Amino acid sequence: MADADKTQFNLIIGAGSGIAGALITALASEEPDSGLLLVSRKPVDLPESASVPVHQFRCDYSEAGIAQLGQDLSPWYGRIRLVVISTGILHNDSIKPEKRAEDLNMNNMLEVLRINTVIPTLFLMKLLPALRGEQPCRVFTLSARVGSIADNHKGGWTSYRASKAALNMVIKTAAVEYARRAPNVKLIAFHPGTVDTALSKPFQRSVPEGKLFKPDFVANRLLTIAADLPIDGDASYLDWAGKSIVW
Ligand SMILES: NC(=O)c1ccc[n+]([C@@H]2O[C@H](COP(=O)([O-])OP(=O)(O)OC[C@H]3O[C@@H](n4cnc5c(N)ncnc54)[C@H](OP(=O)(O)O)[C@@H]3O)[C@@H](O)[C@H]2O)c1
Repeated sequence: MADADKTQFNLIIGAGSGIAGALITALASEEPDSGLLLVSRKPVDLPESASVPVHQFRCDYSEAGIAQLGQDLSPWYGRIRLVVISTGILHNDSIKPEKRAEDLNMNNMLEVLRINTVIPTLFLMKLLPALRGEQPCRVFTLSARVGSIADNHKGGWTSYRASKAALNMVIKTAAVEYARRAPNVKLIAFHPGTVDTALSKPFQRSVPEGKLFKPDFVANRLLTIAADLPIDGDASYLDWAGKSIVW
């Protein structure tokens, strides 16, 4: 479907993630008047029923690649109503969340910080020109409750916790500049709960009954929260229920 001049768009970054996949499905069916801009390292499968305008962008998440994406989005400047930044890692073949001091490894920690903190930071900074203007826009960056400094009573997962705490600080800091330069934007650090995706798979056994969410439930929660959230010039740190988390 071709873009009408006034079509608004939802921009999903890290569109290959489990949570992003559910968001894409929900947006394609529940917001038929908005198009989708999808950013990922690889092509993203679309729901068969999708009849909204969709534009896919490949990005390697390098600094140059993210800057280029900011420019490639110029046809949609001022028309983006929702941004979700979903990149994040908890484990891979060589990285495991640390349980004790001896588990810490510098290269692994730097890789977690790169993916969970630096990449979303670059997107937040490079997207600012795209989000200036009259169009109200909510920007959700996928954080986690374990990034709360005040709420850390259990310890462990040093790199993941640190990466999300640093991400939260980036969001708080960026909100000050956005309030001045792109005042119709609201920035949110979002905790989706524990969601049944590849990221949480090895850790699901310890999740209490009823607390492992399906991605489509979380996608719908995020969209419901986005619809009601006032644009107030400050960052919010919210969970899936819409409740504030202490920074
Ligand atoms: N699942 C949970 O229980 C849970 C809980 C709290 C917070 N979160 C947060 O929610 C977000 C999405 O999580 P998810 O559960 O949907 O995870 P997921 O399915 O594992 O998706 C991972 C995401 O991270 C990106 N990514 C993975 N490895 C990467 C690498 N080496 N370099 C650059 N990017 C990489 C992927 O981007 P591509 O699109 O390019 O593949 C994808 O967007 C994450 O930030 C996560 O920390 C999840």
